[in-house]
Amino acid sequence: MPSKAAQFLETLAARRTIYALKPELPANVELQNVRDAVQEIIKHTPTCFNSQGNRAVILTGESHKCVWDHVYKTIPIEAYKTRPLSARDEALGTVVFLVNDAKTKEMQEAFPAWSDLFPEFVAHSSGSAQISAWTALELLGFGAHLQHFNELVKDALPKDTVKEEWKVQGQLVFGLPVTGPIEKSFMENEVPLLE
Ligand SMILES: Cc1cc2nc3c(=O)[nH]c(=O)nc-3n(C[C@H](O)[C@H](O)[C@H](O)COP(=O)(O)O)c2cc1C
Repeated sequence: MPSKAAQFLETLAARRTIYALKPELPANVELQNVRDAVQEIIKHTPTCFNSQGNRAVILTGESHKCVWDHVYKTIPIEAYKTRPLSARDEALGTVVFLVNDAKTKEMQEAFPAWSDLFPEFVAHSSGSAQISAWTALELLGFGAHLQHFNELVKDALPKDTVKEEWKVQGQLVFGLPVTGPIEKSFMENEVPLLE
């Protein structure tokens, strides 16, 4: 395996879910590094028809606490409160991933034959940005986990920053890892190479 590809695959394998976090930065890392990484990822993640509907907002400090406090207090199911509570009290920040729904609708109107597929394409592209950001944060020395309290998060986001038509797709909660990831098992899933 050529070394650049091997390095990429190693990085991909090192991205893991880490729930045990503390609200601190890794050594020699600044929040600006997170912003720069997410900015590049949003720019370079491909989108259908180059529609560029991916959006991201990074919450830290009070904005992070305020959003997770809202989710924690409003979520009706007791068992689902664990992650919002730990995000509020133990994490440093959250990258909220959104998509511009107005652009999705524009594409649906312009290409009605593919109307049903556009929301799927848009979600694929956002997912791709989410995994890239998760991997980049890991390379910066953070631990992170992915959450989907989409509607509740949207309700608490500042309206002057987040437009009405932006739809929340996921939240990458990050901080300094307190422990490593739990052991992960893999199923047999061989990729056939056909000639
Ligand atoms: C599309 C997607 C959605 C996920 N949603 C959640 C979620 O809502 N809450 C959560 O705690 N983890 C979520 N995860 C994390 C997965 O459970 C986790 O990635 C998986 O168990 C593999 O573990 P790893 O991330 O350590 O490789 C999600 C992961 C993916 C890829």
